[in-house]
Amino acid sequence: MTEPEQPLTGGNAGGRVVRVGDTVRKPWSAATPAVVELMAAVRDAGVDVPAFLGRDERGRQMLAYVPGTLALHSDPLAPAELGRVGGIVRAIHEACAGFVPRAEPHWAAAIPAPGAELICHGDLAPWNLIVGERWVFIDWDGAGPSTRLWDLAYAAQAFTLNDPAAPTADSAACLAAFVTGYGADASLRAALPRAMADRAAAMHELLRSSHATGVEPWASMYASGHGDHWARATRYVAGHQEIWASALSR
Ligand SMILES: Nc1ncnc2c1ncn2[C@@H]1O[C@H](COP(=O)(O)OP(=O)(O)OP(=O)(O)O)[C@@H](O)[C@H]1O
Ligand SMILES: [Mg+2]
Repeated sequence: MTEPEQPLTGGNAGGRVVRVGDTVRKPWSAATPAVVELMAAVRDAGVDVPAFLGRDERGRQMLAYVPGTLALHSDPLAPAELGRVGGIVRAIHEACAGFVPRAEPHWAAAIPAPGAELICHGDLAPWNLIVGERWVFIDWDGAGPSTRLWDLAYAAQAFTLNDPAAPTADSAACLAAFVTGYGADASLRAALPRAMADRAAAMHELLRSSHATGVEPWASMYASGHGDHWARATRYVAGHQEIWASALSR
């Protein structure tokens, strides 16, 4: 009997990701061979990622379904839990450092990074973290060359400074816990406030320019509220730089 396909709606790709039994099916792209290799390297280094199970009869990626809830939809993470996530981000960076794909990669990162120190996931955010018995980052398809600072800045902002209505003192405490969990040194801490503002602005710009040129899924995301959200998030992150800097310098 053929198992039914159940759309997974946590992402923005609109029904292209489905669950079939204990597997997830996702479109295969030019980036997939290198992404699969990267995920295997990260897994070999001891970081939990969804197991890659091959290609299905329709040519799609088959990945193991990870039980749990997206962090985006779970109870807000407490500072200690944010520290745990920061630690996972660090472990991913250590696992990715030195990774070299066997064949010429065709990375599909959406936002160009200001450097190419290592290959990074690029979207380490609450909408790509499964929280359950295991805590697992999914959605590695946008991986590409980046820097530790740029990737951490995005993750830290997305996990701790993504609610422009939150009191800055609470956000700052969460940010400090996240970055301490990462084990950031003084120079990374000093660079983070600016990098977080730049990264949030880059996200807004991706959505805005994609809307102007009709590039999906960002064009629709821009129109459906993500544009406004990232404009407000950018103002929040850029507008309280001293508060973040002070929390990170302690
Ligand atoms: N291995 C997995 N285990 C459990 N759930 C998964 C897994 N992979 C994906 N999902 C679920 O499917 C949703 C969409 O998957 P994913 O995040 O990989 O793609 P996306 O964000 O829609 O895609 P894109 O990167 O093209 O925007 C996730 O938000 C999550 O809820
Ligand atoms: Mg996703």
